[in-house]
Amino acid sequence: MVHEHAERTLHTTQEKSSGEALIAFDGFCFAYDEEPTLRHITLRIDAGDSVVLMGDNGSGKSTLLKAVCGLIHPQQGSYRFDGAIVDETSMRDTIFSKRLHARVGFIFQDSDAQLFCASVVDEIAFGPRQMGLSDEEVARRVDDALALLGIEGLRMRAPWTLSGGEKKRVAIACVLSMNPDVYCFDEPLSGLDAKARDRLMGFLRQLKAAGKTLIIATHDQSLADEVADWFAYMGEYHGYENRPHVHINL
Ligand SMILES: Nc1ncnc2c1ncn2[C@@H]1O[C@H](COP(=O)(O)OP(=O)(O)O)[C@@H](O)[C@H]1O
Ligand SMILES: [Mg+2]
Repeated sequence: MVHEHAERTLHTTQEKSSGEALIAFDGFCFAYDEEPTLRHITLRIDAGDSVVLMGDNGSGKSTLLKAVCGLIHPQQGSYRFDGAIVDETSMRDTIFSKRLHARVGFIFQDSDAQLFCASVVDEIAFGPRQMGLSDEEVARRVDDALALLGIEGLRMRAPWTLSGGEKKRVAIACVLSMNPDVYCFDEPLSGLDAKARDRLMGFLRQLKAAGKTLIIATHDQSLADEVADWFAYMGEYHGYENRPHVHINL
């Protein structure tokens, strides 16, 4: 096979990286059932890129984000993150999967699907605790994330009592507290009012300025215009022919 000799060891952010594209899909295929959802996807995303995924409903944007995060695995072809093969076998190794989850954060479209703890503070501490960080470091990260998202006042609230915009900020804080290299956002603006949208746009700009890798599935043209270095179209799409883009054939 092509990647017979590729590694199944994933570096931490601090270690020397492999030197190739941070994210590399090669002929990646995936089906939930009989109908294929991702067909022979070949895609490279370099560290620090901001990529906007566009395409019709049902074209596979959310599924591709799940693949980036290692939540689904290739049935044909391969996915490498920082040179390491991400597949069913490597993800069964807890050290490997924890490391991937620490390096690639996923902000779900539906914040309710992401929040399950009794309080906001527990919610945000969950990831850093999973990473095995000390209590002091966990507390520091929680405080930093609360401050950066401007949600200190929500610290002791139960997540299910929050508004949609507040839930979204808590969900982002949960990912931020793990300090990942890559942020995957699935339709981040959906359901947010104008004020919450502005706030989130500002936060995305900050992440980009900090050199983070952003992969954002959105239909929102102004968000796309603002943050995208380039676009990946799932299937046929002709909105941005004059801007850097790749087509992912379906
Ligand atoms: N958990 C699932 N089980 C079965 N089919 C699914 C599941 N999630 C998504 N699909 C199907 O996969 C296709 C792509 O979905 P999705 O990745 O959510 O697209 P998008 O995010 O672009 O709207 C759709 O046909 C959808 O119905
Ligand atoms: Mg989707």
